[in-house]
Amino acid sequence: MKEFLAKQGFLGTHGTMGADLSYISAVLFTALFLLGWYQGKKHKGNVHHSLTLWGMITMLAYFTSYYLFRQLGVFALEGRSGFGGPDWVYNNIFTPTITIHILLVTFGIVIAIYLIVLGFRASVKENGKRFLKEEALHVKTKNFCITLLSILALLGLLAFIRCSSFRCYIVYLVGFLIVILVFAFEKIMEKVLTNGAKRHRLLGKLTMIMYLLLLITSTITYLLLYIIYTPQIPEG
Ligand code: HEM
Repeated sequence: MKEFLAKQGFLGTHGTMGADLSYISAVLFTALFLLGWYQGKKHKGNVHHSLTLWGMITMLAYFTSYYLFRQLGVFALEGRSGFGGPDWVYNNIFTPTITIHILLVTFGIVIAIYLIVLGFRASVKENGKRFLKEEALHVKTKNFCITLLSILALLGLLAFIRCSSFRCYIVYLVGFLIVILVFAFEKIMEKVLTNGAKRHRLLGKLTMIMYLLLLITSTITYLLLYIIYTPQIPEG
């Protein structure tokens, strides 16, 4: 898989297969989310639900290829070895952009998982049509604790069975933190916005703005790395 992703990409730039695939999936998931938003606005709850679910699946694929195979985040944090442009562009444009981008991706995943779960909890399907319920939405403390502890226990078990390297444990640790963050977010949002439908609409709109910023930052990163300048080392 690593060899395949390190091959020359298909977009006709200096990008590798991994770079091109991750960029295309970023465009795709943003398009799916935006199209999903448009359908939600038109009160087509069913289509909205399918499009956002596919957006989420594409986003997870993007996250995996981008960070596990291309290691762009590592480039940005550990030095400028993969970047072919001058120092001032690296320091003043590339590094701030990639830092904002990594923060957006991390938060984007948390909020997307949260919204998908909220979408199911806050909506009902009647006569084949899904719509949001305009009522207070709380999770019972007992259910909250059982769900959180079960997911954490499952992740811990998976890490114990599968991991033999430090890097693998780090990936699971990030997973642990994301799950805790999603659950903490739910508790805070329950107090700030009691109505489940309003919560879903407001956070949904904020998420859409975040995805647009994410697309802009990944486009700038791709342009700087593979079109405007030539990468200095082969990507893998
Ligand atoms: C990342 C995931 C999601 C995001 C970002 C999101 C975002 C949104 C937004 C922004 C709206 C309001 C549209 C508007 O009036 O401007 C909305 C409405 C809605 N969402 Fe979601 N949503 C997500 C996932 C889901 C899921 C998984 C479901 C169902 C299982 C769902 C069910 C609904 C329903 C039923 C509406 C109301 C449509 C209507 O007004 O009739 N959403 N969503």
